[in-house]
Amino acid sequence: MNALHILQVTDCHLFAEPGATLLGVRVRDSLEAVLRAACAERTPDALLATGDLAQRPSAATYGLFLATVREHFDGPLLCVPGNHDHGAPFAAALPTEDLRLGAWRLLAVDTHQDDVVGGTVAQRELERLAAVLDGDGPALVAGHHCPVATGCPWLDEHRIDNGEALLDLLAAAEAGAYVFGHIHQPFEQARGEGPPLYGTPSTCFQFAQDATFGIDDKKPGYRWLVLDAQGGVRTRVERVTDYPLRIDLTDRDRP
Ligand SMILES: [Fe+2]
Repeated sequence: MNALHILQVTDCHLFAEPGATLLGVRVRDSLEAVLRAACAERTPDALLATGDLAQRPSAATYGLFLATVREHFDGPLLCVPGNHDHGAPFAAALPTEDLRLGAWRLLAVDTHQDDVVGGTVAQRELERLAAVLDGDGPALVAGHHCPVATGCPWLDEHRIDNGEALLDLLAAAEAGAYVFGHIHQPFEQARGEGPPLYGTPSTCFQFAQDATFGIDDKKPGYRWLVLDAQGGVRTRVERVTDYPLRIDLTDRDRP
């Protein structure tokens, strides 16, 4: 089996309107720029979208996400909801079923609750994940929230409140990696026991690695995960280079 190249995009914060902006960023355009750049590198074997795909969740917003993805990539897609998403329209519009690609499995874990910023994994979701992890072959697991502190205190308040339970499960199952979004910045942590943790830049604006809320001027980004036949994972973050990012901190979401 050749290595699999999995593309992760995250935290797109779309509105139903294609021209809508958030913090000055035309969020649909920046998602488009990410997809164009990534798919120019190579065609992914699958695409993982790890939540906050909507800023304002609705069927139309998710339809715009799917249409934007499908302009660039028509292969396997796995979507997992974030805190800005609403579970019902998300699941109605987007593929949320775990994927199998060769020996590998791409598994989603739902860490969100509608209209709650912080992450949690419900007991029944932990039990469901434990059952699927028990299956055959190496697993890449994707969720929206981070299970550990990343050193960014205001974001660390949102980490999965029962993250240890998730980490224990992933370690016991020898998962290949856990990938997530939410923090709008790259993060990598190798762990003595259990899989490495990978956080990924947003497709729109990026959070500064500061103690308090801040936006920096780094470009929209994405992550490649390269899964080899022996169960190994290599990964890197890329950013779009030609996207003209202009942050406007006065441009907040005012429903
Ligand atoms: Fe989030």
